[in-house]
Amino acid sequence: MVPDRAELERFYAYPVTDRPWVRTNFVSTLDGAAYAGDGKSGSLGGPVDKEIFALMRSLADVIIVGAGTARTEGYEPVQPEDVDADLRSRLGLAPVPPIAVVSRRLDIPDALVSPGQFVITSADAPPAALEMLRDTVDVLAFGEGQVDWPAVLAELSSRGLNRVLCEGGPSLHGELVGLDLVDELCLTIAPVMSSGAAPRIAHSPSFVEHAMQLGHVFDADGVLLTRWVRTRP
Ligand SMILES: NC(=O)c1ccc[n+]([C@@H]2O[C@H](COP(=O)([O-])OP(=O)(O)OC[C@H]3O[C@@H](n4cnc5c(N)ncnc54)[C@H](OP(=O)(O)O)[C@@H]3O)[C@@H](O)[C@H]2O)c1
Repeated sequence: MVPDRAELERFYAYPVTDRPWVRTNFVSTLDGAAYAGDGKSGSLGGPVDKEIFALMRSLADVIIVGAGTARTEGYEPVQPEDVDADLRSRLGLAPVPPIAVVSRRLDIPDALVSPGQFVITSADAPPAALEMLRDTVDVLAFGEGQVDWPAVLAELSSRGLNRVLCEGGPSLHGELVGLDLVDELCLTIAPVMSSGAAPRIAHSPSFVEHAMQLGHVFDADGVLLTRWVRTRP
């Protein structure tokens, strides 16, 4: 049973904090696959997952997404009609959250090279592309060889962007999990058994594990909406 809209807003509210809070949002099959046969995840969770996806966007200051996902899923800047304007105004949030796309190679979908959006990369990213992007988007280039995530999150926080929503994909998620920077995972479990080569929702070269505590679970006719919070000492 899924609570009504007002209750859902409370269940998915970000905690009050003056530091960045990183929420990740994923859908998976029962066996943990991060995408369906079409190579995308959108069809897995059905309408209820889309509703929660939109609610989470409505609650966020900024949406971080890996360039792979942005390219595969055809990401575009969030439009006012994509989010709940009333909710955002009640929370004192900007009309729309910017998309911050993460890329090493700086192969950014054209639609996201647009004023108001962010690109997150390392300081040693390809210089010509870096220069060109800086004309249009806000570039956060921290770290050598790899993105310095604490520096990126501190920079977002200094701009008042503490409600961080990461929409994947698995490579980006794996890095954030490895660094223990994920504060909560909102995971929709689709009632689908699959097999094949799709990755799990977090993958990385080395194994790590972190304890998580169940925040809530709702059964939407077999689609499970779960929220898990990182247990920190
Ligand atoms: N189940 C779900 O909820 C869910 C959610 C999101 C995505 N997906 C699916 O996952 C698949 C994509 O997987 P993926 O692992 O390739 O996605 P991804 O993490 O979005 O993309 C990987 C790419 O993003 C950039 N990137 C990621 N982390 C980075 C980092 N720390 N530093 C610099 N660049 C970084 C790199 O881009 P460059 O190559 O440009 O350097 C890298 O090649 C798609 O099929 C998508 O549909 C599923």
